[in-house]
Amino acid sequence: MASGLLSDCASSSSCSIRLHQFKGKSRAFARPFGCNGSISLPLRNLSVKNCTFASNSTGWSLSAVSSAMTDNASAIIIDGKAVAKQIREEVASEVARLKDAFGIIPGLAVILVGSRKDSQTYVRNKKKSCEDVGITSYEVNLPEYCTEEEVLKHISVFNNDPSVHGILVQLPLPRHMNEQNILNSVSIEKDVDGFNPLNIGCLALQGREPLFVPCTPKGCMDLLHRHNIEIKGKRAAVIGRSNIVGMPAALLLQRENATVTVVHSRTSNPEEIVRQADIVISACGIANLVRGSWLKPGAVVIDVGINPVEDPESPRGYRLVGDVCYEEACKIASAITPVPGGVGPMTIAMLLSNTLTSAKRIHNIK
Ligand code: GUN
Repeated sequence: MASGLLSDCASSSSCSIRLHQFKGKSRAFARPFGCNGSISLPLRNLSVKNCTFASNSTGWSLSAVSSAMTDNASAIIIDGKAVAKQIREEVASEVARLKDAFGIIPGLAVILVGSRKDSQTYVRNKKKSCEDVGITSYEVNLPEYCTEEEVLKHISVFNNDPSVHGILVQLPLPRHMNEQNILNSVSIEKDVDGFNPLNIGCLALQGREPLFVPCTPKGCMDLLHRHNIEIKGKRAAVIGRSNIVGMPAALLLQRENATVTVVHSRTSNPEEIVRQADIVISACGIANLVRGSWLKPGAVVIDVGINPVEDPESPRGYRLVGDVCYEEACKIASAITPVPGGVGPMTIAMLLSNTLTSAKRIHNIK
């Protein structure tokens, strides 16, 4: 998360609403509220007007999807909070089965170095979520100025501990540490973050399967899958090229046969590229960077950004917004994740799911 407070969206009145006519016969579409044209939705069995959403092959249904009810808004709101809750419930019931049938309790070890407030919050949330689903959590808190060797020593202990099935080193690490050495030392069989270069390498290679996929981009893909959003043959733009989100998100989209362009800080024509995309995943950490006018009508928008902006009306003096100007995007996109409540809750849900998968794989349980 960016440390400073960023400015909010400029007036949305500057945003033009461009509509395109629905051409496909086999796909459902919705008429945006207050608009004459139509915006095609890459979702099947869907009616925004009367808010019905038939369940699909993944069993997903109305409970996690609601239509944007603001004036002129047409986008389906992808409710990551509800999806994440469902995943946590599924993980909890499978964890209970493992315990009852095999006496195995999945374990996750989290290593936190330093005292960054945001990292402390993330780690606390991860620990709490583990407890809620019956996963045992092991926590190591090290001071900012500990040595890299100390971190490596703890990783080695967890690598050899049979009650630990997942190891996570909270990032970012203090500057004096070599992140690469540390991530390389996490056993790939317990690399529930998917950050070991062997796992990332497998993600990039055709015909290879990583043991784990990084949690946030995996959560983005899960939201697309559960909402029946077609990826194959679509144009996708990923904004941001971080090791944690942007880069693996681009690889995941490409693995599913999207045509992917990565937009980054040196891209000269970001708007032009994003405007061609059917699917936009934004993970650049700049509040409201992506305006409504950047989006192709009907695009699906997955907003990974969690950025604080000044808000004198909030008791905290700030509120959290995404990378995408939400009010504007709601009028142009066919589906969008809100901030908060979109991708954020999915990251921890994926971590729990990866830890469960790891325990089952290590113990050879189907
Ligand atoms: N810091 C921000 N996101 C993440 C994440 O997904 N995993 C770890 N280990 N650190 C992070």
